[in-house]
Amino acid sequence: MIRSIHAAQRLDSRGCPTVQVELTTEKGEKLLSYLSQMDLPHTKTGTFRALVPSGASTGANEAVELRDGDECAYGGRGVQGAISNIQNVIGPNLLESDFRVDTDQKKIDQFLKNLDGTKNKERLGANAILGVSMACARAGAAHSGIPLYEFLRREAGAKKPFVMPVPFFNVLNGGVHSGNEMAFQETMIAPVGASSITEAVRMGSEVYQHLKKVITEKFGSSGQPISKYLRSSQAQKLTFKKQAIGIGDEGGFAPPISEPHEALDLLVQAVSNSGLSGKIKFAIDPASSEFFREGKYDIGFKSTTNLKTAKEMIGLYQSLLEEYPIVLLEDPFAENDWDSWSEFNKACPVELVGDDLLVTNPEYVQIARQKDACNAMLLKINQIGTISEAIEAANLAYSYNWSVFVSHRSGETTDDFIADLAVGLGTGHLKSGAPCRGERVVKYNRLMDIEAEILADGEKCLFAGSKFKNASRF
Ligand code: PGA
Ligand code: ZN
Repeated sequence: MIRSIHAAQRLDSRGCPTVQVELTTEKGEKLLSYLSQMDLPHTKTGTFRALVPSGASTGANEAVELRDGDECAYGGRGVQGAISNIQNVIGPNLLESDFRVDTDQKKIDQFLKNLDGTKNKERLGANAILGVSMACARAGAAHSGIPLYEFLRREAGAKKPFVMPVPFFNVLNGGVHSGNEMAFQETMIAPVGASSITEAVRMGSEVYQHLKKVITEKFGSSGQPISKYLRSSQAQKLTFKKQAIGIGDEGGFAPPISEPHEALDLLVQAVSNSGLSGKIKFAIDPASSEFFREGKYDIGFKSTTNLKTAKEMIGLYQSLLEEYPIVLLEDPFAENDWDSWSEFNKACPVELVGDDLLVTNPEYVQIARQKDACNAMLLKINQIGTISEAIEAANLAYSYNWSVFVSHRSGETTDDFIADLAVGLGTGHLKSGAPCRGERVVKYNRLMDIEAEILADGEKCLFAGSKFKNASRF
């Protein structure tokens, strides 16, 4: 059924190389020849494509992303080895195996896993394997005559009705995703008071635009001018307005702040100015593995040193939870600081999400359950490397009554796969960065398309809203 698999090196949103897979099937071929006979435009029609994302604050136990390490090209970040593994190993083997894309996704993913043969996919590369797995799912959906979200719903065995996820927009970027001094990586807004994904996107965008003004007003009046073409007072203003509203890797602003409460105060102001107080809640992902140093947390790691014990961090989080409308906390502790996770989870009033801690891997999800370390799993498809294993991890999390939070990576592409995944699995929430930048908005735009499509089909389409945690049980 699969006729050809072609891989190529393309760029991600940080300008780094990543893997692109193009898979052609029988159906694709027939369609192609028909279109060419009819003299219709047909470039690439019938080919199913996938682009693989890449993280910066990666968990130590993630599946291995194969990089060439050849300093002569892309500073060693090239993925020609992964491309070659698809072209020369995965492709030929998969073609020979004769799997059906419409019914055999799990078998295909198992086959890819076995072909690699290592525990963390280090031989062929999780970036190579995932690209093929995603392209197969797209082809599977097309061959079944159904949208990708419905294909993934059936793969996961999830129930209807469809529930549209609350988008968690990362509007303030810090950590290793930006150049400011903010240690905490992500400060997000979640329009839980919306009644549809379309309304939630509008709210997110409005707050984002208001936030831009709030930041400009707050930081627009100090610093040094750089332009010789402008009169100095004019230049001073322009320069610093621009610097403060510069953005980080995920499209959120990166103003000159360093403390979490400064970030949250900016959000409170922006939400209030947009008239949406009460409808928008907040979330934080400190990505704390990035600043865990010999048993302590260095929340000044980007400029000076400011070490905090885990107990002090717990105190900090508790005070933030008391003061602000925060509904979700991700990776507040490092991936190997299990004791702090378990301690905090005893009385955690909000969703506590394991990202680096769980790496979308059923094995770590199980360990976390035994240690009672969290109550939700972040789902990043490239952390595990196949769609079926990501679904297995999500279903395991659901079986513990945990929630599942679908996520992009900081190095993203224009591939919108995760939008369909969030709807198919009924996860009730998803994060794909700010409502800004093509690689981020492509997911939010796809969600609005899905919502419109489901409604046009006359099907029930709910919005997770404030019950985002329990969407899989609606
Ligand atoms: P990453 O960041 O893609 O750089 O890992 C996202 C996150 O930590 O959630
Ligand atoms: Zn994270």
